[in-house]
Amino acid sequence: MKKKRIGIGFIGTGFIGQFHLRSWVGVRNADIFGIVEKSEENAKVAQQLCLKLNIGEPKIFSSITEMVADPNIDAIWVTAPNFTRLEVFKEITDAVISGKGELIGVACEKPLARNVAEAKKVIEMTKRAGLLDGYLEDQLFSPSVVRGKELLWKRGAALTGRPYLARAAEEHSGPHSPWFWEGTLQGGGVLNDMMCHSVEVARFMLTKPGAPRNSITPKKVTAFTSCLKWQRPKYAQQLKDVSGGKLDYVNRPAEDFARSMIEYEDENGNPLVVETTTSWSFVGAGLRLSMELLGPEYSMSADTLGAGLKVFFSREVKGDAGEDIVEKQNSESGLMPVVGDEEVEYGYTGENRHMVECFLNGKRPDENFDDGLNVTELLMTAYMSAEEEKTIEFPPDGLDSFIPAVAKGEWNPLKNKKE
Ligand SMILES: NC(=O)c1ccc[n+]([C@@H]2O[C@H](COP(=O)([O-])OP(=O)(O)OC[C@H]3O[C@@H](n4cnc5c(N)ncnc54)[C@H](O)[C@@H]3O)[C@@H](O)[C@H]2O)c1
Repeated sequence: MKKKRIGIGFIGTGFIGQFHLRSWVGVRNADIFGIVEKSEENAKVAQQLCLKLNIGEPKIFSSITEMVADPNIDAIWVTAPNFTRLEVFKEITDAVISGKGELIGVACEKPLARNVAEAKKVIEMTKRAGLLDGYLEDQLFSPSVVRGKELLWKRGAALTGRPYLARAAEEHSGPHSPWFWEGTLQGGGVLNDMMCHSVEVARFMLTKPGAPRNSITPKKVTAFTSCLKWQRPKYAQQLKDVSGGKLDYVNRPAEDFARSMIEYEDENGNPLVVETTTSWSFVGAGLRLSMELLGPEYSMSADTLGAGLKVFFSREVKGDAGEDIVEKQNSESGLMPVVGDEEVEYGYTGENRHMVECFLNGKRPDENFDDGLNVTELLMTAYMSAEEEKTIEFPPDGLDSFIPAVAKGEWNPLKNKKE
């Protein structure tokens, strides 16, 4: 019999796991019933958050297998770090395949994996276990993107022709956990970490509503990466200090700036362009997401820091540093934009509602692991282009086994400059 509600288990309840939990107040028909976390403290904080928000009474499990085996758990949200993807998926799918428990589906945060080979393994394991799959790309569900796309296609494109150019940018002053900064653990630098959002949201806006992903075809990728800020001695030292000496940005940096241009062809062979910029070297009010879509007689633009609400604190207000005004906040005084409801505005609430409704109805989510794989393929091609300093035709030879130099700990623009 079809279920009316489903129980969700989270693997990893750090920064983004807790973001998802806060979004759950706007999600219907699903409760949080399980947590698997390496950090006892983060598990307890997440459990308390669920109780406070009345979104479920999660049990803290000591293993993924135990959580899958619990009959209250119907679907799993994978929100653990990138370097744990394969082990996490192996344990989830082994538990299902060996009959220890039953699941409907699994949703996974971006990036699906650190490279194409890993992403294909994640898909292969998920298919073998017969699970529905949702790729968690929140920006596709951001109300500004959803509404902007709907209006432009309905009014502008219908009367004057399809859009041809999409731009997306994501910038902040640097990630919150040391593992993000380590190319070998994360899979790259800001290109892998944040361009995954920008290339996908731009591709989404350019795709006709309801049309499949392959209705537009990527043809060529041109990209550039650099380390603009964090290799400077003062900032490299800061990273060393916060990581107990582990991060060495003088010798083993990751890119803190990346841009790419992806040339697509539309349904009729006409050119389309996606332009993206991402950086960990933007010091402004906080996280800034911007999206633009341009067509022959119309355009749209969205910028999360152009929020309607602004607050001002004079120099007499000397509070603690925090992220209570906006994600990746850099200041507590002066005139500052506030995103009224970050979980909604960035798209987490809409994304989680979609995944839950699909899982309840036995339907594959619109955004699924095939999308996650294609994003990884585009990003790896962008790394190839940046490394070879030339435009690369998509898909390039050797894509399936390509690992960026930065993910091998071998990228260093400073060294190349001196040689
Ligand atoms: N959609 C977005 O905008 C967005 C933003 C941030 C992070 N993310 C993605 O979410 C994932 C997690 O990032 P984060 O910012 O929450 O990182 P984080 O470091 O803040 O938290 C990760 C948590 O996972 C736990 N953990 C580590 N290994 C684990 C394992 N094997 N099993 C269970 N728990 C484990 C850690 O103890 C930690 O609490 C990453 O893949 C990241 O790319 C997405």
